[in-house]
Amino acid sequence: MSKNVVIVGTQWGDEGKGKVVDLITDRVSSVVRFQGGHNAGHTLVINGNKTILHLIPSGILRRQVECLIAHGVVLSMSALIKELSELSAIGVKEVHSRLKISSGCPLIMPYHVVLDKARELKRGKAAIGTTGNGIGPAYEDKVARRGLRVGDLLNTQVFAQKLKEVMEYHNFVLTHYYAVEALDYDEVLAQSLEQAQTVVPMITDVTQKIHQHIANNENILFEGAQGALLDIDQGTYPFVTSSNTTSGGAVTGSGVGVMDIDYVLGIVKAYTTRVGGGPFPTELVYDVEADKGDAIGKVLGTAGREFGATTGRQRRCGWLDMVTLKHSFKLNSVTGICLTKLDVLDSLDTIKICVAYELNGKQITTPPHDVQGYADAKPIYIEIPGWKTSTVGIDSFGNLPQQAQDYIYKIEELSSLPVDILSTGPDRNETLILNHPFDK
Ligand code: GDP
Ligand code: IMO
Ligand code: MG
Repeated sequence: MSKNVVIVGTQWGDEGKGKVVDLITDRVSSVVRFQGGHNAGHTLVINGNKTILHLIPSGILRRQVECLIAHGVVLSMSALIKELSELSAIGVKEVHSRLKISSGCPLIMPYHVVLDKARELKRGKAAIGTTGNGIGPAYEDKVARRGLRVGDLLNTQVFAQKLKEVMEYHNFVLTHYYAVEALDYDEVLAQSLEQAQTVVPMITDVTQKIHQHIANNENILFEGAQGALLDIDQGTYPFVTSSNTTSGGAVTGSGVGVMDIDYVLGIVKAYTTRVGGGPFPTELVYDVEADKGDAIGKVLGTAGREFGATTGRQRRCGWLDMVTLKHSFKLNSVTGICLTKLDVLDSLDTIKICVAYELNGKQITTPPHDVQGYADAKPIYIEIPGWKTSTVGIDSFGNLPQQAQDYIYKIEELSSLPVDILSTGPDRNETLILNHPFDK
């Protein structure tokens, strides 16, 4: 029986989704990206060789896999072309022929990037800390029904006309509201038409393709970007991204039916990280540049190499937070957990898990309703003894130190979900598949 599996981040992104997508794509015919854009940074390490993917699905390194970018993804042609040339430079074969792009993808245009940056600057201290890649403004144009889409590239005249109208609007906002320079219409048009030559041959009816694969009984993997707590509706608004990062996004963003999803793999980092602004109740504040702050925060950031795969920014680190995680498991209908980066905890004497918050003198076990509640929430922890020995690349569950097994059992008990995959190192082969999502 074929299966459709969705992989989602359950925290604030960077849980290790890319690694796991790459790992289990040996069992699929196609991998689908369904939301977000090149704000994502998905790291694959194969025999020590590192590749970071932003827009292209993490199945691309497996030669038999077709990579689909569905209409839920916002597509920057510049970012795509850069990534294509990076992949060809490292010798990845048949990328152009294996990559298919939906005509419905909203285009991220140069003015979206300028708007994103101008807006962040204007927000000052309240900045969201976006990737500056134009993600938010491109999704705004989609919802405002004025955006350009990949399919518009098929008719140069129509594209030129639509671009004129939308640039008139954005240039007005840029110059009058943000007091920055307008972009030149002719330049943007010429650049877009040049880039279109690469993109147009890849245009495909992605939704139909997915339906065909399902009819042919082929396994499909849906690759989420970001994490549930960055979801536009359910995340820590306004410190979120602009798409639905939860598993429902796989349905709306690709055209597969709700009942066609068989399994949702929730990727959980063994601690928590966040990059950018916004509340983070279990944060252990440490500033890498000043080398000041919490000692455990430093250990997590250093051992976990917690620097953004897209922007290079330091990721904020903290303890595992079961309050947000349990909520996240419900939002995503998580079937099983993939626990990553367990090895990063190897040197710790004691490990904490947040099991509740104290908010306004009361103990709560579900997330606060708004961002202020998150900011005021004080974590309540349980403590687990550390194992103080290396788990890197461990080859069986039984060979894990007892304390590490206990940490995993505790997570299973608190979440009432099984840990189906365990990752103890960045490399593809540093992974234990306890229950394969395509077999369950
Ligand atoms: P994604 O955005 O969810 O795909 O995750 P990122 O690639 O942005 O960040 C995860 C980082 O952790 C990358 O540098 C991975 O190579 C690395 N990584 C993934 N799994 C493990 C693991 O189990 N242990 C360690 N030490 N590193 C890991
Ligand atoms: P992956 O797929 C971590 C964060 C940004 C910022 C907020 C909004 O690698 O897990 P945006 O540019 O999307 O408007 O920024 O979302 N963010 C991510 N954080 N991992 C990501 O992707 C992220 N994509 C966006 O840092 O706080
Ligand atoms: Mg990432």
